[in-house]
Amino acid sequence: MTDTAANAAQRILELRAELDRHNHSYYVLDEPSIPDAEYDRLFRELQAQEAEHPALVTADSPTQRVGGTALSAFGEVKHEVPMLSLGNAFEEGDLLDFDRRVHEGLDLPVGDLFGGGAEVEYCCEPKLDGLAVSLLYENGLLVRGATRGDGSTGENISTNVRTIRNVPLKLHGEGWPSVLEVRGEVFMSKAGFAALNARQLENSSKTFANPRNAAAGSLRQLDPKITANRPLEFCCYGIGRVEGELPATQVGILQQLKVWGLPISRELKLARGANECLAYYRDIGERRASLAYEIDGVVFKVNDLAYQRELGFRAREPRWAIAHKFPAMEELTELLDVEFQVGRTGAVTPVARLKPVKVAGVMVANATLHNMDEVARLGLMIGDTVIIRRAGDVIPQVVQVVLERRPADARPVQIPEQCPVCGSAVERSQLIKRSKGRETISEGAAYRCVGRLACGAQLKQAIIHYVSRRALDIEGLGEKSVDQLVDEGLVRSPADLYKLTFEQVVELEGFAELSSKNLLAAIENSKKPELARFIYALGIPDVGEETAKVLARSLASLARIKQALPEVLTYLPEVGLEVAYEIHEFFSDAHNRSVIEALEQILDIQGQGELGAEFAASTTLAGLLDKLHIASVGPTGAKTLAAKFGESLQKVLEADWLDLRQALSEKPANAVREFFSVPEHCERALKIEAQLREFGMHWESQKRVVEGLPLAGQTWVLTGTLEVMSRDQAKAKLESLGAKVSGSVSAKTHCVVAGPGAGSKLAKASELGVAVLDEAGFLQRMLELGLTT
Ligand code: IVH
Repeated sequence: MTDTAANAAQRILELRAELDRHNHSYYVLDEPSIPDAEYDRLFRELQAQEAEHPALVTADSPTQRVGGTALSAFGEVKHEVPMLSLGNAFEEGDLLDFDRRVHEGLDLPVGDLFGGGAEVEYCCEPKLDGLAVSLLYENGLLVRGATRGDGSTGENISTNVRTIRNVPLKLHGEGWPSVLEVRGEVFMSKAGFAALNARQLENSSKTFANPRNAAAGSLRQLDPKITANRPLEFCCYGIGRVEGELPATQVGILQQLKVWGLPISRELKLARGANECLAYYRDIGERRASLAYEIDGVVFKVNDLAYQRELGFRAREPRWAIAHKFPAMEELTELLDVEFQVGRTGAVTPVARLKPVKVAGVMVANATLHNMDEVARLGLMIGDTVIIRRAGDVIPQVVQVVLERRPADARPVQIPEQCPVCGSAVERSQLIKRSKGRETISEGAAYRCVGRLACGAQLKQAIIHYVSRRALDIEGLGEKSVDQLVDEGLVRSPADLYKLTFEQVVELEGFAELSSKNLLAAIENSKKPELARFIYALGIPDVGEETAKVLARSLASLARIKQALPEVLTYLPEVGLEVAYEIHEFFSDAHNRSVIEALEQILDIQGQGELGAEFAASTTLAGLLDKLHIASVGPTGAKTLAAKFGESLQKVLEADWLDLRQALSEKPANAVREFFSVPEHCERALKIEAQLREFGMHWESQKRVVEGLPLAGQTWVLTGTLEVMSRDQAKAKLESLGAKVSGSVSAKTHCVVAGPGAGSKLAKASELGVAVLDEAGFLQRMLELGLTT
């Protein structure tokens, strides 16, 4: 070997050792030892070294985790020591029975009430919900990975297991058996699963029903590059074939495996006797929801290996181990029907009606399907057998269709063309986006009944919302009475509440004389609502209490709110374009307008008056220009433009390219010119400006903005010939910084810029002691003030 090759070999070994160490800290110990960027640097160095010296590449190099190419099929692997399954305990009694059988099998006296008998020690671990995998290490090197398969024959997934970051390609330390087969579970954490599904959704790829399916689907990829991109993890819980020495207890073995760099459970515990096992079961059960991964129970194994041998196996299960299961989070049931519910804002939502089934201890008969996109994604048909899942406290979800069980008469789920409640048309919602001055409208996932208050479902909920505590706070009107009022046609809009008579109310179910009087008094008392409460009570989609308060505080009149343009609404803090459009559309709707007008006749809405000061202060021209979303003009560009054109929209619209170029660099200047060459854009901008004026904005921002500029209040004089820029350009720059430019020098002149050929003005300046700058000094000053030439 040449010197350089020897050096490279040495460096490669160092790099591998270091990367292995960091990998182990990161993936096994969960304690990152260096920043990711540093890891990447070392990794790239190793890759480069190996590329230069291909003969030095070995299979245990960290660069070889995704070495293989895609397979056409997995090979077969025979398990010399079969991979068995576990017996299950569901109740505490089952576990006590297991412990008794262990005692009997070992000829040990069973414990009694007086502390007699012998306690057997058990190794306790969570039962991870993933897939069993066997990893074969020969002389410390990972040579093979296999699935469990049927227990005696599995699939060769060597290239895939190599991509799992916490699987050591080479064992740490020393003293490993020459042949060591470790067994454990490949799984996906809850966070990894959520991230993967989010990614899949974004790429319009298939999502996974649960972390287990995701782990299985990822491990059984023929292309290891796909597996490498999936957040898989490994956890070791036992051994298979071994040639060499190992400790004599289950816990001892696992701790030894940990020393060799294999990941084992952090929840590993030794329990003495069945009672400690039960305590372990309860403890893990309580923490189940907060663990980073899903488990379906805990596993208890007799700790002493001599005992394990003595106990042996029964059929395909060890007599020395048992899985104590938690209640299942998933169950199968039948989808009886899909019904459509209409919400307050008219959203028509599919709801699954299920054959009732107990999931993790709770009866489930309904599950929301969110929207029709979700129905399509699941490929759901009525009559299907589905998997229902209740993860933690989350509401039950339909996660999967069991296609094999689809009956011949399964029916597709169809969004009704007419509202199931009122018969009005059902329309697909639209998503409005605006960028680069253009609006794009795409189809949303939701459908809406267009019936508004003519729809009984929407009307009922609108009334319930209207009278609720945070809205008009009319006490005494429950859901049932609202149903009755609407069903009997006594109330067709919130305004009708004010027409109710004592005779009508007292007839309602559950109302007597006193309660009827109280209700009518409460309705009467609600006639002077604060504007914010009234706005909230209208139930505008996406307008909660906070937004209602902001609307009331900023625009301070119902009339203004009703007519506000979406762009004007986006001046309000926290109001984005989507919400602004919702509000605008709500008030543009003829039916809504008539309902509101009827209420205005009856109510005396409080808190209306002058435009909010904060709002007035925020309605700058710069803000307006920013809201137009002109390409390459951000908030700063908008500010510069507004200042340059003296806070006049008209001037911006009339600006020629040179003017624009003085304020902006080439790209945004072009964009502004192009934008305003479209007449509709100019009209829209002027319309917004006109509305702001009408609302009481006198566009005084001009003065205010100038006052904030660095040269505000100063008068400058230009004289002589300027070489770098024209006098006009220099004047524009000074003005954009807030200065006035005058033609004559006086004692009040702040500064004279004098180029070659300057005459009397320069002399006058020296005489009066006014500061003088040459062109270079002037440019320097401009630079200091942040203006480029
Ligand atoms: S021991 C002979 N320990 O559960 C003992 N299994 O139902 C074999 N599992 O196929 C397994 N966590 O996939 C064992 N801590 C754990 C486990 C565990 C999950 C899975 C494993 C096995 C299945 C048996």
